[in-house]
Amino acid sequence: MFDDVAPKYDVVNDVLSMGQTRRWRRIVVEAMDVKAGQRVLDLAAGTGTSSEPYADAGIDVIACDFSLGMLKVGKRRRPDIDFIAGDATRLPFADNTFDASTISFGLRNVNEPKKALAEMLRVTKPGGRLVIAEFSQPVVPLWRTMYTEYLMRALPAIAVKVSSNPDAYVYLAESIRAWPDQDHLAAWLQEAGWESVSYRNLSGGIVAVHRAQKPTAPAAGPAAGAAALANHTGPVAKLRRNITRPER
Ligand SMILES: C[S@@+](CC[C@H](N)C(=O)[O-])C[C@H]1O[C@@H](n2cnc3c(N)ncnc32)[C@H](O)[C@@H]1O
Repeated sequence: MFDDVAPKYDVVNDVLSMGQTRRWRRIVVEAMDVKAGQRVLDLAAGTGTSSEPYADAGIDVIACDFSLGMLKVGKRRRPDIDFIAGDATRLPFADNTFDASTISFGLRNVNEPKKALAEMLRVTKPGGRLVIAEFSQPVVPLWRTMYTEYLMRALPAIAVKVSSNPDAYVYLAESIRAWPDQDHLAAWLQEAGWESVSYRNLSGGIVAVHRAQKPTAPAAGPAAGAAALANHTGPVAKLRRNITRPER
């Protein structure tokens, strides 16, 4: 499916998000807070649009994706970026390779997203950061209703006009509705062994940007994360109070 949408992927995104994707991407890069000379994994990088700001800033970014169609379009556009074919659930990198890892609008597409979170933990250096941008749940009920209408009715209709594979956008709408909300994704991150988990809602929660850090102590890992989570009383409510940050 990703091979089919690759040629017009970026244009269609701009149309369907009404130009919002550029702002969302800028906020992800700020959250990564990486410097020239550092090595970054951009997982599920697709055509490399999410990798470009790092390359432009002199950061050693690896754009990894399992769709050869997406990688080919990306390499043609940005021959200076390292595009590597790889599955998020079995990453072709050694432990502790990257200063920071990120995945934009890709985790929802991975068949086993929890495995991808564990793999990103493995390949990130101790103390390194993870930033995830993903579609999420609008927090205000009226906004949520309007957005759901857009997703289920308007978006597939627009996609018929602008995309070569409109069915992919029906899948997009359905996968967004089926995806866990902000707190549940935060809980998955903790279960996988990430710590200092926080998130920020963008466009009223249409997108959430989650941030986390790999523990510096070697003992911490998936089991430690699960144990920490089990110690929460009312994890979701408590997490929401502790980690939601106001939208800028
Ligand atoms: C919506 S695109 C996002 C691309 C890019 N990160 C962006 O922000 O534009 C989702 C990408 O996830 C990739 N993907 C899905 N499952 C994957 C997996 N298991 N391993 C690697 N990439 C995967 C797809 O090939 C696709 O390119």
